Amino acid sequence: MLKTFSAAAVLLGASLAAAAQPAFVSYDSAAKTFRLDGGGASYVFGVNSRGELQQLYWGGRLGATDTFPQAAPLPEWASFDSSYNNTPQEYAGWGAGLFAEPALKVTFADGNRDLVLHYASHTVKANGFDVVLKDVKRKVAVTLHYSVDPESGILARWATIENGEALPVTVEQAAAAAWALPPAHYTLNYLTGRWAGEWTLNQEAVRQGARVIESRRGSTGHQANPWFAIAAGEPEEEQGEVWFGALAWSGSWRITVEQDQLDHVRVTGGFNPFDFGYVLHPGQTLETPVFYGGYSANGMGGASRLLHHFELAHVLPRTAATEGQPLPRPRPVIYNSWEATEFAVTEAGQMELAEKAAALGIDRFVMDDGWFGQRKDDHAGLGDWYVNKEKFPNGLKPLIDKVHALGMDFGLWVEPEMVNPNSDLYRKHPEWVLNFPLRPRTEQRNQMILNLARPDVRAYVLGFLDKLLTENDIAFLKWDYNRNWSEPGWDQLAPAEQKKVYVEFTRNLYAILAELRHRHPKVEIESCSGGGGRVDLGILRYTDEVWPSDNTDPFDRLTMQDGFTYAYTPQVMMAWVTDSPHWLNKRTTTLTYRMLSSMQGSLGIGANISKWSAEEAATVKRLIAAYHEVQPTIVEGDLYRLISPQDGSEFSATQTVRADKGQSVVFAFIHSTQEKRGFPRLKLKGLDPAAQYTISPIEGKALAGSPAVASGAWWMNHGLEMDADFRGDFQAAAFRLDRK
Ligand code: DGJ
Repeated sequence: MLKTFSAAAVLLGASLAAAAQPAFVSYDSAAKTFRLDGGGASYVFGVNSRGELQQLYWGGRLGATDTFPQAAPLPEWASFDSSYNNTPQEYAGWGAGLFAEPALKVTFADGNRDLVLHYASHTVKANGFDVVLKDVKRKVAVTLHYSVDPESGILARWATIENGEALPVTVEQAAAAAWALPPAHYTLNYLTGRWAGEWTLNQEAVRQGARVIESRRGSTGHQANPWFAIAAGEPEEEQGEVWFGALAWSGSWRITVEQDQLDHVRVTGGFNPFDFGYVLHPGQTLETPVFYGGYSANGMGGASRLLHHFELAHVLPRTAATEGQPLPRPRPVIYNSWEATEFAVTEAGQMELAEKAAALGIDRFVMDDGWFGQRKDDHAGLGDWYVNKEKFPNGLKPLIDKVHALGMDFGLWVEPEMVNPNSDLYRKHPEWVLNFPLRPRTEQRNQMILNLARPDVRAYVLGFLDKLLTENDIAFLKWDYNRNWSEPGWDQLAPAEQKKVYVEFTRNLYAILAELRHRHPKVEIESCSGGGGRVDLGILRYTDEVWPSDNTDPFDRLTMQDGFTYAYTPQVMMAWVTDSPHWLNKRTTTLTYRMLSSMQGSLGIGANISKWSAEEAATVKRLIAAYHEVQPTIVEGDLYRLISPQDGSEFSATQTVRADKGQSVVFAFIHSTQEKRGFPRLKLKGLDPAAQYTISPIEGKALAGSPAVASGAWWMNHGLEMDADFRGDFQAAAFRLDRK
């Protein structure tokens, strides 16, 4: 399931390619140290004199001949903090007086809860190690997996826990990995939010104690995202050291960033231990999610560029068309019917929208909620995945044929894990939902959650989706998920086993997605959860794009998109242009402002295009065509956040540069200018200083203050000068630079 990284050349941003050196994985048997190198980073750990696995170094790439002596445990601190507690272990068992966050906590059948893991053996792999740890007394073994990406230096770490005892062992807490940093002044960056307000970047000093970022919701959640970045000192966009990580798990998760009593920093992440309990019977194993971690010497911008390239090259799935290619293809420009019609979809109405969409140059037409069962609003229908005969008397085929005849492919909305009590499925199988017997069943949006951990539910969900994709020529599924868990019981299992639901639900979700992709290799999938409630590197192994937020207000989106790109590539960031005034903020913006805001990511149109004037349609058609020309640069290039929109900034700007530096795209936005202030001169980044670049507007003011052609050095040192009258409220401009 997990991809390990091959040294095969992967097309990276030129800035990365320059830094790339051959992968280097080595074990020093005399000093018992393990070293992984990739890109501009090195990671070193070793077996200390007691036998624990101790982290030694994580940072800028070391010289090839540099070595470390054997790891020495940190001393105890008086009689209150033992050496075991103070030593930064790679994977510490809870035992022997550990007060820091444990990587693993178990209870044995006899009540013993002490676990001390010592090195036992290891295997060297092409780009990493498997290191086996064993408890000092009992037959519990943990294999720590390490794999380094030679280009970016990003590590994948995860663990497999095995019960070799004759009786069951309950795992109460299991991390994928723990990362450590030496004492210093650091700033923690993390992303939080809520429905319609995802992707807020938080920045705070790391202090003694713990900052917990988590979801207890059964899925990733809008409220916090499993990503962190720790900057040395104050975070800067283009300079300074940054250590970052992302957890690949779409169930309940937890990342704990703690600074201990001696100021060492540890970041531990994996399954959320809240309400967790996974019984391992003799011989059974539990595999944790993967925790990716990386290092950049080039600030927050450098960190996110590494992550973006890594996600494109190593995380995102390939379709039949892109199998074996270095990168997945840029996303088709979609039209989605939701904001135009909500549940009131009909064959005639969708066909009319499809005609309008095709005339705009749209690639993919997506019909949203409302097409199935007795779905008229959100009170009924979820679970009954047959086509509603009143709305589509002849099934989906006439609409799909029409969409194809118009030159687009067809996508469909589903919400497979949910059921309305008012559905045939619930009437037949009330036992299929997450519930505790004889307790109330909480509904949200009038729906409950099917227990996907159950084999029969898993078979049902896979079965109906497979049938839908087999019987209809569908290129794309928008996979929605519109509530979080409550009453997470699984009464098929013995009481002690029921908490396995936190693992098995998500595993089955992944298994269904993987099987669907296998059976229907042309199909692409979007992860949506009422907006950005399920965005993480776990789901992104099986889905091609995500819906970042139900909030499509183009101004709000600027800050959300800014936050989003710290962790995720613009390729997966779907952004629709919708109607104005916007339903959420009642804000009025121009069509070009809305278009340019959405063009920062993967463009879509979600407005009621039946109501657009010929002039509006012409504007959008022109901009979609212009977007298509530069889309690979925008979504695969190196992203530079030139001026942040955060904190009510008057201005904001981004720039992307294609890997070969042959093309660059600049977006500039004005919130509200004051006191006749003009847009600041924009010093561009990442260009070839010696090359000549022609600048041309994609949209917006002509650049009277800038030459038509100048060197990369000019654009980066002198900078791009906007017209003096580029002022006002909610203004936008976009430019492209092409190497001559
Ligand atoms: C929530 C999604 O985020 C929306 O885009 C839309 O698909 C609705 N669900 C449909 O119910």
